[in-house]
Amino acid sequence: MADTTATHATAGPEGTKRDFLFLATGAGLAVGVGAVAWPFVASMAPDAATVAAGAPLDVDLSPIQDGQIVNVFWRGKLIFVRKLTEKEVTDMKAVPLDQMIDPAPFSARVKAGHDQWLVSYGNCTHLGCVPIGHSGNFEGWACPCHGSQFDAVGRVRRGPAPTNLPIPPYAFSSDTKLTIGEEGGKAAA
Ligand code: FES
Repeated sequence: MADTTATHATAGPEGTKRDFLFLATGAGLAVGVGAVAWPFVASMAPDAATVAAGAPLDVDLSPIQDGQIVNVFWRGKLIFVRKLTEKEVTDMKAVPLDQMIDPAPFSARVKAGHDQWLVSYGNCTHLGCVPIGHSGNFEGWACPCHGSQFDAVGRVRRGPAPTNLPIPPYAFSSDTKLTIGEEGGKAAA
């Protein structure tokens, strides 16, 4: 199975920009920082036909810090992988459903036993712009195009976006590795 990916980090919880971070999960490597990493990662990437076929994508979670959002691409789509802080988990569990535009309990946004991890598509459900992480009023994302806001588990909290950020199929094979594109269990009920 083609299981290598390259990812880059976005802002941390305090809103500061981190250096780019490249992850090569197939080889179990975390290759830190710098343009020189690109040729190496690119050489390990699945071939175009495999990518087009939608090969599952392994993501090594071990380098991801609390509060960090990592962007990956699967089937040409942007995916957010976010490690929630304990505070964010507590806060997101406490949001009343009647405050939501597209009501969804916390348990429907994460996998049972992996409360700290959000995996969602990364395009605004209004017209497809890419929301900015750690922005807005809900510990999540703010869309720069028309002002939609999403919370830390990708639930839309301010329109015009009509629905939450969708969740792709994914599964955890361990506490430090997930595979996007693999149906290995469903979101916690
Ligand atoms: S595309 Fe995000 S608010 Fe319009």
